[in-house]
Amino acid sequence: MGAALDAPAVVALEGDLGAGKTTLVQAMCKGLGVTQDVTSPTFALVNQYEGDRATVYHLDLYRLRGPDDLTNLGWDDIVNSDAIVFVEWPDRAGDRLPPDAARIALEHVPGDESCRRVTVA
Ligand SMILES: Nc1ncnc2c1ncn2[C@@H]1O[C@H](COP(=O)(O)OP(=O)(O)OP(=O)(O)O)[C@@H](O)[C@H]1O
Ligand SMILES: [Mg+2]
Repeated sequence: MGAALDAPAVVALEGDLGAGKTTLVQAMCKGLGVTQDVTSPTFALVNQYEGDRATVYHLDLYRLRGPDDLTNLGWDDIVNSDAIVFVEWPDRAGDRLPPDAARIALEHVPGDESCRRVTVA
C-alpha cells in the first residue's frame, strides 16, 4: 500500500476461501509491530493483538450465523475503537460494515497457485 496504515482504520479483506486474506493480515501485523503469533480467527471470530502504536483486531466473519453474533462479539465497539481492524468475509457484516472501510481484494491467479492478485480500493 502506498499510504501508511494508521489507526483508527477498518480494512475489509475480500476474496474467496484460500485467497490469502489471513496471510496478508499476518504480514501487515508484522509491519505494525505485533510480535505474537497471528492465527486465523476461524472459530473465535475475533483475535486481538497489540502493535507498536495501535491495538489490532482480526475478525473472520465466515462462520457468522446472524446479526446477533456480530453484536455478541463486540462489533460496534471494535469498529468504533481507536484500533486497526482487519475483517475477513466483510460482506457477512452487511450494512454494519463502516462505509469508509478500506477495501483490499485478493484473487487466485488461474494456473498459478503460488501467486495472488491484490487490489487496493
Ligand atoms: N500471496 C500469496 N502467494 C502465494 N500463496 C499464498 C499467498 N497468500 C496466501 N497463500 C497461500 O494460500 C493458502 C490460503 O491462505 P490464507 O489462509 O491466507 O487464505 P484466506 O483467504 O485467509 O482463507 P479463508 O477464507 O479460508 O480464511 C495458504 O496455503 C497460503 O500459504
Ligand atoms: Mg483466513
